[in-house]
Amino acid sequence: MIKTLEWTADGVRFIDQTKLPTEEVYVVCHNYQEVAEAIRNMIVRGAPAIGVAAAMGIALGIKQSQAEEISALRNELGQICRRMGETRPTAVNLFWAIRRMQQKFEEVAAQGVQQTKVTLIAEAQQMLVEDIAANQAMGKHGATLMPGSGGVLTHCNAGALATGGYGTALGVIRAAVEAGKQIHVFADETRPFLQGARLTAWELMKDGISTTVIADNMAGAMMRQGKIKAVVVGADRIAANGDVANKIGTYSVAVLAKEHNIPFYVAAPLSTVDLNTPTGEQIPIEQRPQKEVTHHGGKQMAPDGVKVENPAFDVTPAKYVSAIVTERGIAKAPYDRSLKELSAEAAAIAR
Ligand code: MRU
Repeated sequence: MIKTLEWTADGVRFIDQTKLPTEEVYVVCHNYQEVAEAIRNMIVRGAPAIGVAAAMGIALGIKQSQAEEISALRNELGQICRRMGETRPTAVNLFWAIRRMQQKFEEVAAQGVQQTKVTLIAEAQQMLVEDIAANQAMGKHGATLMPGSGGVLTHCNAGALATGGYGTALGVIRAAVEAGKQIHVFADETRPFLQGARLTAWELMKDGISTTVIADNMAGAMMRQGKIKAVVVGADRIAANGDVANKIGTYSVAVLAKEHNIPFYVAAPLSTVDLNTPTGEQIPIEQRPQKEVTHHGGKQMAPDGVKVENPAFDVTPAKYVSAIVTERGIAKAPYDRSLKELSAEAAAIAR
């Protein structure tokens, strides 16, 4: 199994996703600042993986603290969490993970500095275990939606590399293939960062799942030719009304799918559902460096001084979403009700 991220005695270890698919190298972040940089620089990326990475970064910062009093440790926690929270704004899993670590701190603080350290380190590792289990559960639910055979389109990378392991959208595909469905994956290359071409193709090929990479602008033609039976993507944040923020280009795919009567599914854990954000309008969209668009592999592709936009995500309105697959089951429209119900069930179990 691909080890996207791992807690080790030396620090937090990541497979460097900026180097794939040509180099499979691992980096160890030795302090929380390095973990924050790894998130910002997309050495680790994908909403659930960012969440677990942040939790491990917080645990690492707390482990290395010299604080002798719990009040001093709490101040440091605040500082570490602020640093983590500044890395990337869109994936709500980051803020969910920070909140969970802060809550755990308060639950255990009365037991003193040493016990608090031990508990937070265990909590971060537990989040990794839970994330993988959630993906496997999502896979089981989502596999029932996949066609018995034929092409399934995905955008970006919502796989093992974007999570603790197994993946959300790719977890659904993996589970469908494990259940004997004859699926052929079409992976949008996903300009400008090429998560589809570089990462999705790499991890599916490692698993022997039949995959074709297409340039993003080919998806419509493939649908028209009847090559795509379903679309499944991940999400960075799902608003209370079911609007979905995901990798830039997802919206275009959803509109194309609707035009061709192809189901458009989103697979995401409930930690990606943000009931405090009423609609997609309020989701903050990260703007990334212009150079990601103007340059490719170190080579300049656009004239000096040209204006560039590089939003990393877009919002797909809920009306384009056929169903949202979560670890607690499949949410259907009206999403304001179904997402609330599934989230309440999950919260009741966690208590
Ligand atoms: O900018 P990235 O690579 O972090 O964006 C990732 C995505 O948009 C994924 O589709 C999303 O995080 C879901 S990952 C299970």
